[in-house]
Amino acid sequence: MQVIVLDNYDAISEQAARLVEKNIQENDQLVLGLATGATPLGLYKNLISGYNARGISYKNVKTINLDEYLGLEKNHPESYHTFMSEKLFQHIDIAMKNTFIPDGNPSSAEEECIRYEEIIDSIGPVNLQILGIGTNGHIGFNEPGTDPNMSTHVVELKTSTREDNAQFFQSLDEVPRHAITIGIQTILKSEQIIILASGKSKAKAVKRLLEQNVNRNFPASFLWKHDHVTLIVDREAYQFVQ
Ligand code: F6R
Repeated sequence: MQVIVLDNYDAISEQAARLVEKNIQENDQLVLGLATGATPLGLYKNLISGYNARGISYKNVKTINLDEYLGLEKNHPESYHTFMSEKLFQHIDIAMKNTFIPDGNPSSAEEECIRYEEIIDSIGPVNLQILGIGTNGHIGFNEPGTDPNMSTHVVELKTSTREDNAQFFQSLDEVPRHAITIGIQTILKSEQIIILASGKSKAKAVKRLLEQNVNRNFPASFLWKHDHVTLIVDREAYQFVQ
């Protein structure tokens, strides 16, 4: 794992954007794996600026998102469909038919998992996967205890994850209890992975990640099984490592 420590959130967002853009410039048909949440917002702002100011085009890029809450309509304000549309897709020239996010309101969640994994198999491999990290070490919504050999599956969200995400809802009760996530196995099929971490709330998770103790209680530790991972972290999130 390559570790890049930068001063602050703006710096890691810019650095991640430059890496994404470099990959698009080298391969205009890039398959890009995307995350939601607070961490990649700065990256997405930078990508929008790159599109506007430097003409980086997403016309032939395909995107595959990690996860979606179960039980939310696509147009729910807190669905990851809405998030991706508002924070990135509607500001760049990507074709919506080239963007993939699990359906959070399928008639059968199990069938949706199979369908989504088949999509990844057919348009993948993901060339470059962007990840955030949960305070409990989750990646995607692969919570502690998840079998690393799983592909796309339904998960029951841990209370800590629901509490972390409650800020985006009216109350904790409104945060969905289940989600569909691509599996750790699916994530590890990506050719290259960038994991971003910012702020002191992530400092314990970053320290634990860098201990290299690969185990199910800390899902991000499985990234040590991949040989092309870059952790881009700011000083606050890195503070317990030094
Ligand atoms: C989001 C996702 C999650 C987040 C993680 C960190 O698609 O898969 O693993 O990356 O929960 O969230 P933030 O960035 O909000 O701290």
